[in-house]
Amino acid sequence: MGYFDDEKNVEAYVKMAEGYDGRALIDVLKKHLRNGSTVLELGMGPGKDFELLAESFQVTGSDNATAFLDRYRARNAAADLVLLDAAKMNIDRRFDGIYSNKVLHHLTRVELKESLKRQGAILNNGGIVLHSLWYGDKEEEMSGLRFVYYTEETFGEIVGSEYELMEATRYTEIERDDSLYVVLRKR
Ligand SMILES: C[S@@+](CC[C@H](N)C(=O)[O-])C[C@H]1O[C@@H](n2cnc3c(N)ncnc32)[C@H](O)[C@@H]1O
Repeated sequence: MGYFDDEKNVEAYVKMAEGYDGRALIDVLKKHLRNGSTVLELGMGPGKDFELLAESFQVTGSDNATAFLDRYRARNAAADLVLLDAAKMNIDRRFDGIYSNKVLHHLTRVELKESLKRQGAILNNGGIVLHSLWYGDKEEEMSGLRFVYYTEETFGEIVGSEYELMEATRYTEIERDDSLYVVLRKR
């Protein structure tokens, strides 16, 4: 059973995320993608970023934990949501953009490299990927959850030739410069 298959962990996460505002990251995506573009969010969790994305894009939310999807559907039955594992990218729809905020560090480095390749396959030409990750060079496990940290260099090493690396920028979420966002464009 995964960590977020447990309803108690989902509730605790939702509470913890209450004051969080990811608008700055979505503003970065808006610089690269036209209004009205189709965007797939990986690991939508409670749906805070999903709602901000929906202000500018036709957004499809996804998560590999049904508890998050069910919880969000109860609030917004019209939302376009899919059960999707970011490691497998088992979806046959295409999008102009793919977004995630602090999700892909749960994958191994090998899984993330493969996921990026599969993301490229479901992106329209010229499509944009924006992912945020924790900054650093360690790997750790907390409460059974994997955390893999990245620097500009280590992330760059797993980006395939199907992408142009547009941005790799450090930013602050909790502690100074503790995070990294990357923007890739499909060639
Ligand atoms: C930090 S939360 C994301 C919060 C979200 N950006 C928001 O605005 O509320 C991380 C999410 O990633 C999901 N997740 C973890 N591993 C995943 C995977 N392999 N595939 C899809 N989602 C995953 C978790 O279930 C959780 O909902």
